[in-house]
Amino acid sequence: MSARKNGKILIVDDNSSISRSYQKYLESEGYTVFVASDGVEGINMVEKESPDIILLDINMPGKNGIEMLEELRQNMGRSMPLTIMLTAYGDLEAAVKATNLGAYDFLTKPIPLEKLRLAVKRGFEKISFSEQVAYILEDKISPFKNTIVGRDSSMIEIYKTIGALQGNKATVLISGESGTGKEMVARAIHDTTSPDGPFIAINCAALPENLIESELTGYVKGAFTGADTDREGKLDAAKNGTLLLDEISVTPLEFQAKLLRVLQEKEYFPVGGSKKRTFEGRIIASTNVNLKSLVDQGKFREDLFYRLNVINIEVPPLREHISDLDLLIVHFMKKVNTNMKTNVESITKEAVDFLKTHSWPGNIRELENVVTKAAINVKDRILTRDSFNFLDPEYSNGSLSDCQANETENMGDLFSSLVPLKEIEKKYIEFVLSSTKWHKGKSAEILGVTRPTLDKRIEEFKLIKNV
Ligand SMILES: Nc1ncnc2c1ncn2[C@@H]1O[C@H](COP(=O)(O)OP(=O)(O)OP(=O)(O)O)[C@@H](O)[C@H]1O
Ligand SMILES: [Mg+2]
Repeated sequence: MSARKNGKILIVDDNSSISRSYQKYLESEGYTVFVASDGVEGINMVEKESPDIILLDINMPGKNGIEMLEELRQNMGRSMPLTIMLTAYGDLEAAVKATNLGAYDFLTKPIPLEKLRLAVKRGFEKISFSEQVAYILEDKISPFKNTIVGRDSSMIEIYKTIGALQGNKATVLISGESGTGKEMVARAIHDTTSPDGPFIAINCAALPENLIESELTGYVKGAFTGADTDREGKLDAAKNGTLLLDEISVTPLEFQAKLLRVLQEKEYFPVGGSKKRTFEGRIIASTNVNLKSLVDQGKFREDLFYRLNVINIEVPPLREHISDLDLLIVHFMKKVNTNMKTNVESITKEAVDFLKTHSWPGNIRELENVVTKAAINVKDRILTRDSFNFLDPEYSNGSLSDCQANETENMGDLFSSLVPLKEIEKKYIEFVLSSTKWHKGKSAEILGVTRPTLDKRIEEFKLIKNV
């Protein structure tokens, strides 16, 4: 996003000696510069030369700067050139009017050349940023069918590793902090290497120890109390496709031994069964804790670790590939527009700069939630710095990442105590309502239920508006 030195600038000013000195200076800086002496000539020049930036004097005989701006706005809307007004000292009224008409910046005369240079440079940076946003929104950047986004060298290494998995069924261990995109990488591996087979995931952390094995291998009728029919396991379901063992670190040692056998022999028996089955797909394991250190502590089998770790992919935390933030933000703007029918068209550079200062403890998942929350409340279709005030401790009593952390913890608690689905439904409805500031129409849409259904749930769960 660097300034374009060969950009086109139009200077509109009735004082020709001022215009000439600006022109000479800006040309020496590498820009192409046109000059007009009033609004009428200015409009003609815009049509003929399509400048990127206009430096527009306010007080001119004939058509003045405000009138020219008005006309441009009317004719070209948002696609009008970026305009920097040149105002006389104290011309506040005109300045306010010009802002409302979409002027980008003001310079008060007399203008030192260095100040002019900086204003123009900033202007071009802004243009190049908006162009990049438009470019991404038009879907021109879509590695992996527009799922995984990122151009940082760490991400490119991951794409290369995925590419190298074509034509083999090697086991892959994906590690990385929570929310970095491990499951997304697993899906990309699947889509790239065995798109015709099924993709099946087991969340090992969500299963009680005594169920994990039967979940993996299936069971036969009579294997244990309640097993009144034969049942397929996830290995059967994944067949020649991909099986993702999510959160592998929490599996019991006894289960790890069985898994090792599957990896070594590609064979398994359903619980209670004696007929061997074979697995021809790929196993991917993921972990958000360092498995090697669990091995060192005796909590994870070393032989299994090496079996899983044939190919190792480390997904970096967002703070370590923050250069991808712009791409990711725009990607999520598009995603939210599609999924939630919001209509975000752009984001200001100030907003992106602000988001770059956040530490993103919840990584890309947190970013997705932050963009979603801002998009739901967007005004005038543009996300601004203020759209993200909820991230700023000065504006609220806790960032979204905090409340998300609580949310995740609560979810963790819910799973460990195995509560009824209703309890999770209640929590989720509460979360969506608070994210939309209790906009019931939007909440119902996000939840995929009708307004009356949402109202019924609010009543049933005794949910109370506290925003
Ligand atoms: N590089 C990326 N490009 C686009 N979206 C991404 C990327 N990485 C992650 N996401 C999105 O962020 C969210 C979290 O990703 P994912 O579930 O893959 O993370 P995870 O590492 O498996 O997290 P956890 O450890 O909590 O299970 C998903 O909605 C995913 O679509
Ligand atoms: Mg995951």
